[in-house]
Amino acid sequence: MLRDLFYSTRTCRTFDESRIITRDELCDMVDCARLTPSSANIQPLTYRLVYKKDECEKLQPLTKWAGALPELDLPPSRHRPTAFIVICQDTERFGDASKFKVDVGICALAIYMRAAEMGLAGCMIGSFNKESTAEVLSLPENTVPLLIIALGKADEARKIVPLKDGQTKYYRENGVHLVPKRELDDIII
Ligand SMILES: Cc1cc2nc3c(=O)[nH]c(=O)nc-3n(C[C@H](O)[C@H](O)[C@H](O)COP(=O)(O)O)c2cc1C
Repeated sequence: MLRDLFYSTRTCRTFDESRIITRDELCDMVDCARLTPSSANIQPLTYRLVYKKDECEKLQPLTKWAGALPELDLPPSRHRPTAFIVICQDTERFGDASKFKVDVGICALAIYMRAAEMGLAGCMIGSFNKESTAEVLSLPENTVPLLIIALGKADEARKIVPLKDGQTKYYRENGVHLVPKRELDDIII
């Protein structure tokens, strides 16, 4: 059920590297993004698939993880994502990248939830070095990376918890990653 999938699909930052992700699997995820609503149906986004070990190793250090837990070095070495999808936009053809932020969110969620349905987990990464990413992935001219989705098989426990003292900051207890979510009554106005 989609509802159960939303409950269980938490951001993951520790992966089982023995689970390789294939190009076909990534194409399947992007195919779901392709079918989603798009502002004026312009469909300005393109996707760079990263699944070869050497490319994953080049991209990983350009991404920043779990800013709220600076004491942890996530993802731990030998527990890194085994693939990434980099959502991009050709700014020459479609103009300012800030115009399509909603499209990026919709497509990112489609990829992320399809990955979950396939038994995989991920982390959306908005904090990354855009210039270096474009360079190491040899993105075409005028193509800017907007959001990265790191993917792999989950190797850590994550759970939703109620807010404590109104705080939404995620934290860890006994090795479990806890994610406070606001209650339904608090968000319906
Ligand atoms: C647009 C966006 C950008 C994000 N960027 C990062 C990031 O750069 N690094 C990171 O570790 N997590 C990132 N996250 C993951 C959030 O921290 C995570 O969604 C949040 O803590 C809630 O946890 P949940 O996804 O398990 O519900 C991002 C999430 C979104 C939606």
